[in-house]
Amino acid sequence: MRLDEFLRLNAPEDLAALTTAVARSSVDVWGSIPFKAGLLNETNPSGETQKAIDVYSNDLFVEALTATGHAAEVASEEMEEPAESKGRISVAMDPLDGSSNVETNNPLGSIFGFYSQRLPASGRRLVGALYVTYGAMLTLTFSFGKGVHRFVALREGGGISFQLKGVELKLPEKPEVYGFGGARKEWVPEVAHFWDSLDDRGLRNRYCGTFVGDYNQVLARGGIFSYPALVKRPKGKLRVLYECAPVAYINEQAGGYASDGKGDVLDIEPGGLADTSPLYIGNSALVHEIEERISRS
Ligand code: F6P
Ligand code: MN
Repeated sequence: MRLDEFLRLNAPEDLAALTTAVARSSVDVWGSIPFKAGLLNETNPSGETQKAIDVYSNDLFVEALTATGHAAEVASEEMEEPAESKGRISVAMDPLDGSSNVETNNPLGSIFGFYSQRLPASGRRLVGALYVTYGAMLTLTFSFGKGVHRFVALREGGGISFQLKGVELKLPEKPEVYGFGGARKEWVPEVAHFWDSLDDRGLRNRYCGTFVGDYNQVLARGGIFSYPALVKRPKGKLRVLYECAPVAYINEQAGGYASDGKGDVLDIEPGGLADTSPLYIGNSALVHEIEERISRS
């Protein structure tokens, strides 16, 4: 089934229009990556260097999302202030996740949270979430609260169409992989102990350094991804609004659980747009286990 047909049958008008806007723009972002991998002399609000492709994808998505007329605002990891518009849905996005991987040609991604409330808002206000992978395949993975669906970009005639891949996505029951961000010596000790135990249970360590890429393989193979609390950075690295909550929403719809080490990531009430949180996400049993180890420490 094609994306437009699926959206017509399964999504409210606003989410269908926003998803279509992301789908179209993602094709341009994907095609532009090889041409825009040089550095610009700019930094984003978190002090990281922006690459040309970060700026390009940010501007492209803002433009396409606001043009639908359904966005109330578009907040982005790459912007200080949200772009205001006149619709109902607040969009929070990480327009190019894992951009430090551009040069090494690891997978990249884009993440979108569709909130029913002005931002910052808790993940409980999400009415949908979506992530794009720019990897070997261009894919869209999303949920509007009724399961997780994946579409793959295919060449068709002179253009590209998105086709539904398989059935509703669920995390496999038997976990196979794990991937943890940051440096091991910086992790809080409970995380290192938990990590040590995973090999003994037959899981394999696989880490690519792009959140979307690392989470995507957890969704495919089962397991756990974490960007944990660090001793010197107890609130981790990943942004609640732009990264943690949208992917936690999809993960919950796939039958999993996401924790900040104390409770459900979807319950976090972020005080600011750029708030960060530790993240432990994947199969429920593994995530509950690390949560329990942390709470006992
Ligand atoms: O957006 C931040 C990010 O690029 C994520 O995609 C990724 O999970 C993380 O940083 C990787 O950080 P590190 O290089 O510290 O493991
Ligand atoms: Mn990111």
